[in-house]
Amino acid sequence: MCGIIAYIGNEPALPRLMEGLRRMEYRGYDSAGVALLDSPSLWVRKDVGRVEALASRVKDGPTAVVGIAHTRWATHGGITERNAHPHTDQGTRIAVVHNGIVENMSSLKRMLAAEGVQFRSETDTEVIPHLIRRHYKGDPVQAVIDTVGMLRGTYGIAVLFADHPDVLVAARNGSPLVVGLGDGETIVASDPQAIIAHTRRVIYLQDREVVTITRDGANVCKLDGSEVGRQPELIDQDYELAELQGFPHFMLKEIHEQSESIERAIRGRLQLDEGNAKLGGLEMSPRDLRHIARIVNIGCGTSYHAGLVASMAIEDLARVPARSEIASEFRHRNPIIPPDALFFAISQSGETLDTLGAVQEVMIKGGHVMGVINVVGSTIARACGKGVYVYSGPEIAVASTKAFTSQVTALLVFTLMLARTRNLSLEEGQRVARALSAVPGRVREYLEAPGPIQKAAEIIAKARYVQFLGRGYSYPVALEGALKLKEIAYIPSEGYPAGEMKHGPIAMLEKGTPVVLVAPRGSQRDKAISNLKEVQARGAFTILVHSAGDDELADMADVSIAVPETEEFVSPLLTVLPLQLIAYEVAKLLDRDIDKPRNLAKSVTVE
Ligand code: F6R
Repeated sequence: MCGIIAYIGNEPALPRLMEGLRRMEYRGYDSAGVALLDSPSLWVRKDVGRVEALASRVKDGPTAVVGIAHTRWATHGGITERNAHPHTDQGTRIAVVHNGIVENMSSLKRMLAAEGVQFRSETDTEVIPHLIRRHYKGDPVQAVIDTVGMLRGTYGIAVLFADHPDVLVAARNGSPLVVGLGDGETIVASDPQAIIAHTRRVIYLQDREVVTITRDGANVCKLDGSEVGRQPELIDQDYELAELQGFPHFMLKEIHEQSESIERAIRGRLQLDEGNAKLGGLEMSPRDLRHIARIVNIGCGTSYHAGLVASMAIEDLARVPARSEIASEFRHRNPIIPPDALFFAISQSGETLDTLGAVQEVMIKGGHVMGVINVVGSTIARACGKGVYVYSGPEIAVASTKAFTSQVTALLVFTLMLARTRNLSLEEGQRVARALSAVPGRVREYLEAPGPIQKAAEIIAKARYVQFLGRGYSYPVALEGALKLKEIAYIPSEGYPAGEMKHGPIAMLEKGTPVVLVAPRGSQRDKAISNLKEVQARGAFTILVHSAGDDELADMADVSIAVPETEEFVSPLLTVLPLQLIAYEVAKLLDRDIDKPRNLAKSVTVE
C-alpha cells in the first residue's frame, strides 16, 4: 500500500525519486520521505501529506546520485513526520524504506530495546534498520539477508548504506518490487509506472529474494546467498505510462476509456461465427470446461462486485452453479474446496493480500484457481500461473472504474465458452457473442451524451444519505454505485437488492432522500418499477437509470438517465457508467480529492 523507489546512477537522484513518487502516489499518500547519500553521510527529509509537500521542502536538496524514497499509507503509528519513511539506524548510517507489515515487530522491538536501541517512531518498519545495523559486519547484502531472515510478515524494502556509495540492496516477500535496468542507472520500485519513463528492461523480484543493485545492473540471490541468474524481460509497449492527457482527473479519464478497455478485454477472444470464445491463458479444452461442476469468484470491493455479476451470468447462460465470495471472509473460514470447482481470483492490482490469501487457501486444499487480473506479472497472476488478463491498462485513480467493466467483460467471455460446452446452441452463442461485441460501441455512445448527470449530482451532493437499488444484474451495480459515492464523495450510501429494501432500509427514507434505482429493460424491470413507486410514496427523490427507448419510464422519476439498450446480461457494463459519473460529479461539487480519497490506497497489501 506504500510506494517505494530507489535510484543509483550518474544523474541526480532526487528529481528521479520525486518523479517516481508522484507516479506511485496512488499507492499511499499520507506522508512521504527521501534519503540521499550525501557522502559521507545520509541526508534524510520527510513530510506529512502529499508528495508535493515533500517536493517543495527538498527542492534545494543535494545533487547525490544514490537515494531511496517512499510514499506512505499508515499501518503502524499515526500520520506523523517521525513515522514517515525512510527510517534509519541510531547512527543514521543505514536508511530503509518499507512496504508491508512486520508481524513480529513486538518481539523484535523488545530484543533490540534490551540491547540499548532507542526507537524514534511507532512503526513496525523501524526495527529493520536497527536489525541491519546489528547484523552489519562490512557486507551490506549479508546484513540484509540476515535481517529479513528474522522478519515475519510482508516486506518490500530498499536499503541505503552510507558506507557503500556504489550499491543499494532491496528484498521482497509479499510486496511487489520491480528492478529497472537503464543505461548507467538502475531503479527499484513498487510499480513499473515509476520506471517505464526511463527503461522497459526489468526484472521482477520474487518472494524471498534479495537484489543488489549498482549503476551497471542487478544481481538477484536467494536468502541462502545462492545466485538466481534471472534474465531481464521487456515490459510490453502496450503498457502505457499513465498521463492525464488533458483530463482534470484520472478517474474521469478512466471512465472515458471504457469503450477501448472493454474492447481490449474481448479483442481476439470472441468467435462471432462459431458463437464461442477462446481464452488462451486458461489452457482449458472444451472437455476440461465440461468437467467444471461449479464456479467460485473471489475478490474484494469492486472486484467482488464484478464477481457477483459474473456469477449471475454463469448460472443464467451456462447453468453452472456459481457464487461470489469476499476474499477476506473466505480465506479465514476454512472454506470447502470441491475438487471439481474452478475458482477465479479477481483483482485489478493483482496484489490484494486478502485475495492472495484466498488463492493460497484454495491451493493448499488442492483446488483449481485462476486469476482474472489487470496488472501483468503481479503477485496473484504469478501465484495462479494461469488465468485471464483483462487488459484495462494502468488504473491510477484509487476508485476503480474501467477495471470493473473489464473484469465483468472478461468473465462474460469465459461464461460464453463455458455455456457452449453445455446447452447453449450455436444460434444462442452467436447472440451472446454479438451482444458482447456491441458493448464498446454502446459505451462510447452513452459517454458522448451521458444525460442529466449534473442534475442528479447537485441533489446528491446536498444529501445526508443515498440509497442505491437494483434487482438481478442491477443489484451488483447498485452496490458499486454506493461504493463509488462513499469512496470519493464521503456521503453515507448503501446498495441494496430493490426487493429487500422494504425489509429494513426503507426506514432510512424521508422526504427528499435521493434513491438511485437501476432498472434497465429485462426480466426484473417491472418489479423494480414497483419498488420505485414504493420509495416515491415515502417522498424519496428518485433518480432512475433505464434503457433508452423505454419511454414509459422516461418521466417516471425526478431524474431519468437513459443508457443504450443491451441484452440483460451485459447491462451492468452500461448501467454502471452513470453511477460512476454521478460519484465523480458529486465529489467535484464537494471539492474532494477525487483521485486520492482520504484513508484509501490503490493496492491493499495488508489484511
Ligand atoms: C473500489 C476499489 C476497491 C478495490 C479492492 C480490490 O473502487 O478500488 O474496492 O476494488 O481494494 O482491489 P484489487 O482489484 O486490486 O484486488
